Amino acid sequence: MRQKSEVIDIVANNQSGQALVAAGIRKSYRSPLGPLEVLQGVDLEVQRGTILAIVGTSGAGKSTLLNILGTLDHPDSGVVEIAGRRVDHLKDRELARVRATKLGFVFQFHHLLPEFSAEENVMMPLLIAGADPASARSRAREALASVGLVERWQHRPAELSGGEAQRVAVARALVPSPELVLADEPSGNLDHGSAAALHDLLTSLARDRGQTFVVVTHNDRLASRADRVLTLESGRLRG
Ligand SMILES: Nc1ncnc2c1ncn2[C@@H]1O[C@H](COP(=O)(O)OP(=O)(O)OP(=O)(O)O)[C@@H](O)[C@H]1O
Ligand SMILES: [Mg+2]
Repeated sequence: MRQKSEVIDIVANNQSGQALVAAGIRKSYRSPLGPLEVLQGVDLEVQRGTILAIVGTSGAGKSTLLNILGTLDHPDSGVVEIAGRRVDHLKDRELARVRATKLGFVFQFHHLLPEFSAEENVMMPLLIAGADPASARSRAREALASVGLVERWQHRPAELSGGEAQRVAVARALVPSPELVLADEPSGNLDHGSAAALHDLLTSLARDRGQTFVVVTHNDRLASRADRVLTLESGRLRG
């Protein structure tokens, strides 16, 4: 097991070009058959403005890792640094701020708010950040158009197809222009054409706006367009 001082050295040596650094991440779950050691020392550095794809078999721990990288879950040990700042010891209020200002999430299951329309779901992060409703609405419409949804603004999640709901979730993650987007199977429910359009969008956001993406995917085409592909296997990331 990596020594704590060694882990801290890795993070201290990080140059500012890294959007995300993780070192020595371990996580286990209790199970009736004994502890399930899902992450067994994950190390990771993601350069700003790049796309990292993470692949791996079902149950390998990809969503577990993404949740830890996005501060939604705590590792048993290890260090996470976002935009040059350690986040593993922040208090809840500070964490909420990091999430709201730096991060965008696309979850494996879209987690849209069922009572609200597509447009309102996408407006939500902007309203929470204090934007006025008129500008939030127009930015939400732009974001929905960028994922190819121009006629479903008023539909609630139950009135959207799986792929449409997924694209609303992508628009919601992208609308505040977060520095770092963590996406779990963002093109999972999409047909070829919609998936390709989404991949174009992510690539251009990384190139033109310097946004950074960590994308869990089973989609070979998306993986092939990433700057780097790592496989999560036996609790570790391999190149
Ligand atoms: N809260 C939990 N309690 C116990 N075990 C869990 C918990 N969450 C996940 N696991 C187990 O941890 C392992 C990793 O789960 P995870 O969801 O990270 O996998 P994944 O790589 O995202 O898989 P998939 O490709 O199917 O989405 C699985 O074996 C799962 O059963
Ligand atoms: Mg998963």
